[in-house]
Parts: sequence; structure tokens; C-alpha cells
Amino acid sequence: MSSAAPSRTHEWTGASGDNWVLHQQRLDLMLAAFGDAAIAAADVEPGDHILDIGCGAGATSFALAARTGSEGHVLGVDISPQLIARASADAPADAPVAFRLADAATAAWEPAAADLLFSRFGVMFFDDPVAAFAHMRGALKPGGRLAFACWRTPAENDWVRLPMTAIRDLVTPPVTDPLAPGPFAFADRARIEDILAAAGFADIAIAPFDTVIPYGHGATRAAAIDDAVLLASAVGPLSRALADQPDDIRAKAADAVRATFARQPGESSVLINGAAWIVTAKNS
Ligand SMILES: C[S@@+](CC[C@H](N)C(=O)[O-])C[C@H]1O[C@@H](n2cnc3c(N)ncnc32)[C@H](O)[C@@H]1O
Repeated sequence: MSSAAPSRTHEWTGASGDNWVLHQQRLDLMLAAFGDAAIAAADVEPGDHILDIGCGAGATSFALAARTGSEGHVLGVDISPQLIARASADAPADAPVAFRLADAATAAWEPAAADLLFSRFGVMFFDDPVAAFAHMRGALKPGGRLAFACWRTPAENDWVRLPMTAIRDLVTPPVTDPLAPGPFAFADRARIEDILAAAGFADIAIAPFDTVIPYGHGATRAAAIDDAVLLASAVGPLSRALADQPDDIRAKAADAVRATFARQPGESSVLINGAAWIVTAKNS
């Protein structure tokens, strides 16, 4: 991404969506523990009707559908046609799950019909988060639940901190507004609370969740490190910092990131620290 950033919608319907499809298995491995923590916090009951917001390729929609049983239902909603196509193609034939291409900030919901609004890292991209959450709350039954995972700061997330530190003498990263729509827009706990309260949610609880992320994957340690460099170069802040760089800088950056990842533990993956918030709330 250059400093003249396109809208987030454009990114997810364009290159970001393509990259998420391409690296879906690596990303699902990286994000699994966060999704599991958010699902545990969501208290899913058999029979629940669930909206999975920003569902991507559908991993959490499938996991939620396994818990609702056939008397419940999961609708995965995403703005990216590529990711909705992948999720629809991968959906088990008998699972109570469907997918819809829509902007969750404005989608037409059946009003007051859902038991749970869920998301794994899909709710930080709204231009007007208060309006978007207020709109999504309209889909919830009275007393219905909200549960999502969102990233804490880049400084607490080594999948960002390590590669960005490794390249700091090679590339000046674009200056970004920490509150702008993007992966870290909900890093500030007080801001999440303010947004959800303004959108009409109650019983807001925000808990830190820290885990060791398996980043990249390979049959050997060397292959795993190469795979982690590939993933960092394709998805996330490093990919955006390198997007407009010439090939020689990109090659030097890859070497620097490889050397950094090689200092981390791990055999079949590079093991690095990840830090998220698990957020729950109720429709007041
Ligand atoms: C970081 S990815 C997470 C994908 C998926 N939840 C996962 O964990 O694999 C963010 C997702 O949110 C989707 N997204 C961004 N803005 C959206 C919006 N306004 N409405 C619906 N989906 C959106 C993107 O297309 C993308 O699939």
C-alpha cells in the first residue's frame, strides 16, 4: 500500500482479497487460536443463529456451524468476492452455513433475528465504526451477543514488530493514522469500549489474549523460515511497506526478515508472540 492509500473496501476486493485466498492455509494456522478464544467467549449454543462478520474464507463460520447444529445457522458475510467464493466452495455440503457478499456496515439484515454477532479480525475496517456497529446491532435479538477478536498494538505483535524492526534501516514505513480503518484500529481498549457503547451495546468486556503464533509452515526449519518470510512479504504491514520498493531493496529486506525469524524458536513454524483483545458485549 502506498501512502496514498485506497479505501479499505478497494483493498479487500482487490489485492488483499487475492492474497488472503492465496495464503488462506497459512493465515488459518496463524489465526486459529484467536478464533478459538473468541468462539469460547461467545458461548455458542445449539440452535444459535449467527452472523460471522468479515468471515473471509470461512474457517470460523465452519467452526461455529459445527456448534450450532442443524437447528441453528451461520451466515458468513464478507465484502471480498474472492473470499466469499472460496468460503462457499469449501463449505461442507451438510453444514448449516451460507455466505453472502455484502458490506456489513450497510447490509440488509433480517431485523432482531440473530443470537450472536461474531468476528475473527473482521471488524476493524469500517470507516465509521459507531455507525457500522449500530447497524449490525439491529440484526441482533434483544439480549443477543457480540463476540470478536481484534489485534492489540503492533508493538505487542511480533508478526509485525519483528519484520518491521528488521527492515528499519532499509525502508521508511508509510506514516499511518493509528485510528484509521485497518488491522490495528481497535488496539486501544478504551476506544473499543467507546465505540460499542455509542453503538448501543451493554455489558462490554474486553480481555487480553496472548498466544504463541505458528507463523509460516514447512517440513524443515529452513523451509518454515522461508515460508514465514513469504507470508510476511505477502500479507500485513511488511507487504505494504515493501509494495513500492525496487527489487534490490525487497531482496535485502527479505534477507533481513529471514535473519530475524531464524532467531525465533520453532521447527515446522516460526513461533512468535501475538496479542489480541477478545471482546464481548450484549444488545442492550
Ligand atoms: C483480517 S481479514 C479476516 C478474515 C477472517 N475473519 C479470518 O479470520 O480469516 C478481514 C476480513 O474482513 C473483511 N471486511 C473488511 N471490511 C468489511 C466490511 N465492511 N464488510 C464485510 N467484510 C469486511 C475483509 O474482506 C476480510 O475478509
